Amino acid sequence: RAIYLKDYQQPDYWIETTALSFELGEESTLVTSTLNFKLNDTKTHAQLPELTLVGENMELVSVAIDGAVLSGDQYKVDSEQLVLQPQSEAFETYIVTRIKPQENTSLEGLYKSGGMFCTQCEAEGFRKITYYLDRPDVMSIFTTTVIGDKDKYPVLLSNGNAIERKDLDDGRHMVTWNDPFKKPAYLFALVGGNLEFIEDTFTTMSGREVTLRIFVEPHNITKCDHAMRSLKKSMKWDEEVYGREYDLDIFMIVAVDDFNMGAMENKGLNIFNSTCVLARPDNATDAAHERIDAIVAHEYFHNWSGNRVTCRDWFQLSLKEGFTVFRDAEYTADMYSRTVKRIQDVNFLRSAQFVEDAGPMAHPIRPESFIEISNFYTLTVYEKGAEVVRMIHSIVGSEGFRKGSDLYFDRHDGQAVTTEDFVAAMEDANGVDLSQFKRWYSQAGTPVLDVSDSYDEDAQEYSLTIKQSCPATPGQDTKLPFHIPVAIGLLDGEGEPMPLNGEGETTVVLDLKEPEQTFTFKADERPLPSLLRGFSAPVKVNYDYSREDLIFLMSHDEDGFNRWDSCQRLAINVLMELVADIQAGRELAVDPQLLAAYGKVLADESLDLAMIAEMLLLPSETLLAEQMDVIDVDAIHQAREFVRGAIAEAHKERLQQIYNSLNVDKPYQAEPEDIAERRLKNIALSYLVELDDAASVELAQAQFAAASNMTDSIAALSNLIGAVHESGKAVAEQALAEFAEKWADDTNVMNMWFSTQVTDSRFGTLAKVRELMEHPGFDKKNPNKMRSLVSGYCSGNLVNFHNISGESYEFLADEVIRIDALNPQLASRLINPLTRWKRYDEKRRELMLAALKRIQQQDLSKDLFEVVSKSLA
Ligand code: ARG
Ligand code: ZN
Repeated sequence: RAIYLKDYQQPDYWIETTALSFELGEESTLVTSTLNFKLNDTKTHAQLPELTLVGENMELVSVAIDGAVLSGDQYKVDSEQLVLQPQSEAFETYIVTRIKPQENTSLEGLYKSGGMFCTQCEAEGFRKITYYLDRPDVMSIFTTTVIGDKDKYPVLLSNGNAIERKDLDDGRHMVTWNDPFKKPAYLFALVGGNLEFIEDTFTTMSGREVTLRIFVEPHNITKCDHAMRSLKKSMKWDEEVYGREYDLDIFMIVAVDDFNMGAMENKGLNIFNSTCVLARPDNATDAAHERIDAIVAHEYFHNWSGNRVTCRDWFQLSLKEGFTVFRDAEYTADMYSRTVKRIQDVNFLRSAQFVEDAGPMAHPIRPESFIEISNFYTLTVYEKGAEVVRMIHSIVGSEGFRKGSDLYFDRHDGQAVTTEDFVAAMEDANGVDLSQFKRWYSQAGTPVLDVSDSYDEDAQEYSLTIKQSCPATPGQDTKLPFHIPVAIGLLDGEGEPMPLNGEGETTVVLDLKEPEQTFTFKADERPLPSLLRGFSAPVKVNYDYSREDLIFLMSHDEDGFNRWDSCQRLAINVLMELVADIQAGRELAVDPQLLAAYGKVLADESLDLAMIAEMLLLPSETLLAEQMDVIDVDAIHQAREFVRGAIAEAHKERLQQIYNSLNVDKPYQAEPEDIAERRLKNIALSYLVELDDAASVELAQAQFAAASNMTDSIAALSNLIGAVHESGKAVAEQALAEFAEKWADDTNVMNMWFSTQVTDSRFGTLAKVRELMEHPGFDKKNPNKMRSLVSGYCSGNLVNFHNISGESYEFLADEVIRIDALNPQLASRLINPLTRWKRYDEKRRELMLAALKRIQQQDLSKDLFEVVSKSLA
């Protein structure tokens, strides 16, 4: 059942042109396809090979080749494919099929969301639309005619430019679209619905005017402006930084409520999960605004990194995703704060991708095999993939990287290529050898660097010895050494950066290539090392820092990322010591050094507000869990709450002062400084409500009443829910009710309302989750809702999910089984928390295993089968 990279072969036939016609109907939709095939003459053929087209869940109405209708004995068809025997090297097929989009709950292929028709074809959804060579190396010119009822579906869209529109005399109308660029079927898109749009224009660097449109259901028309601004900024940025220009006359975005992922880069017609595009200050948080900006940019950037140059096969997914995530991260860094963006990305990588790398589904960024490709749209392929591209960027420098990307786009425009091709372009443009570096593409797991140092007083030499290793992962017991760029700096006793080379540079990138290597520097005193600056490689670093060292780095390191990281290390250090104290039944006390360090951060005038905010956030429970061989969720939760309370006690006045100084009434702006102010203010409030103090509840209550933007409103709500003081309860209930009434018609706001409740450890019990699943604003089929409530609880409320009764495991198993019958992609993501069973104590391990085995007993989708069987292996 598994497919292997090593088995890749070119197809026997190519498809030169694809003409499709869709008659959208309520009972069924008729799809007519006219395909022009040509034998792949780079392959040797003894005779004309059979043509195997894939297709699922469709009724074959008729099939003809070169105008001759085939009788039943002239083709073979089953539930997965249609097999034809061509009679010549070039021929045309004419295939009519019938599908039922209104019954398609998998959200792959053509389906209905709300009243509208829409598609999601990546990775292998096109085969649910019509019989085709549904593989990314088959690139074709598409012409698409969409026919539908004019009242119900006044808007009919597909890829490219509209070339013809006309009304039919039966109340229907039709629009024909042509996409002049060759593309694989996964980039095909179609939309039909009653939509409104906002419009703008962008003039490209060569002076072409492009029409930009965002289509939404009428009630969402006021929520599109932010995304439109983001789109224009991204178009400009890609011209400036990569020299890439948009290539069609029109660029369209459509928002849909039912969507498995974030968004999709279909050529000229991006389709977005509505949470990733709709935002107005009053109904979307700052974080949502930033996420939308990044996703709009990401999908836009795919026009080059993904569409003009695409993937040869799905093992190459990181070719487009890793590169495009890197591109969107750099865009965000340029638009907001570079250091803060880096901190947030690394935090995410460590608390989620490192976990994946250590779990049963661990895979290299270019996997070697898969059962279901949808399961490989992972943090590893995306985020670690982006880190790998970032390392290339740091090895060749930004000018070298631009030379490499220019060569890559130029060399491979219109082609379906591999990660090897990408690396080769970087090598050729820069005359560097990345052969050892390429192991990052084929070896899974998070490398570990063990760093030690010594100082030779007489020679005035400082030596750093770095040993690399990488834990075994499924199917890969041993690893070869990686080429790891390790950026470092050295601090003298005053905290000043020491020059590291003749040019007086204070940060250098060490090329670690051996299992163990020593690097020596001239130094007139023993320095303190600042390691892996800017997180120059996706690895773990062990170095025996004392708490004093970390506190010193927190205030002196010239590398902003490492100032934050030293704070993280210090907090992890203290928290894990408390976890051990809890397990041993010892009395708890927070190291005063930690409290003093936080006091210093709170008072540091040199830090910008965004940095203070990041430093104040303690490592998440998930990240702390990763520090333990056997995860003790209760002790982790208790330790973390204890430290939060202690910080609040120790710095109450300062926190109040910060809160009050930032809690001023001013018009909302989604600008970096405003965002930082709101963030810091709300973090201060979250500490204050840790105090058993009615005044803190009153602050949150007042903020809730006065808030005119969603960031402040939802923060106030969640701080009321989380407040320690008794008076918080009634106020929280009242606020929740008011909020739900106000936002009943805004589905995405209601999703926040759901998740805010179930992620709180005291409020969000399993009973609460069950109760909310029956709420009229909930929909048990909708991925966004299921993620808010079920994943919100199972991944965001660890103490309750892992309650020793095991009832939450049973609950999750039930939900996974129920969803798998409707939407396999969603099911195989929901199950994730259960797959980590090996990391828990014996009792929980048994309970989680029992839940997994019960799932395994069912008749499973490929998606879920792969995840369950790998977790149990
Ligand atoms: N290519 C899209 C993006 O990252 C994601 C589409 C994923 N779809 C899927 N069925 N897994 O921008
Ligand atoms: Zn992408």
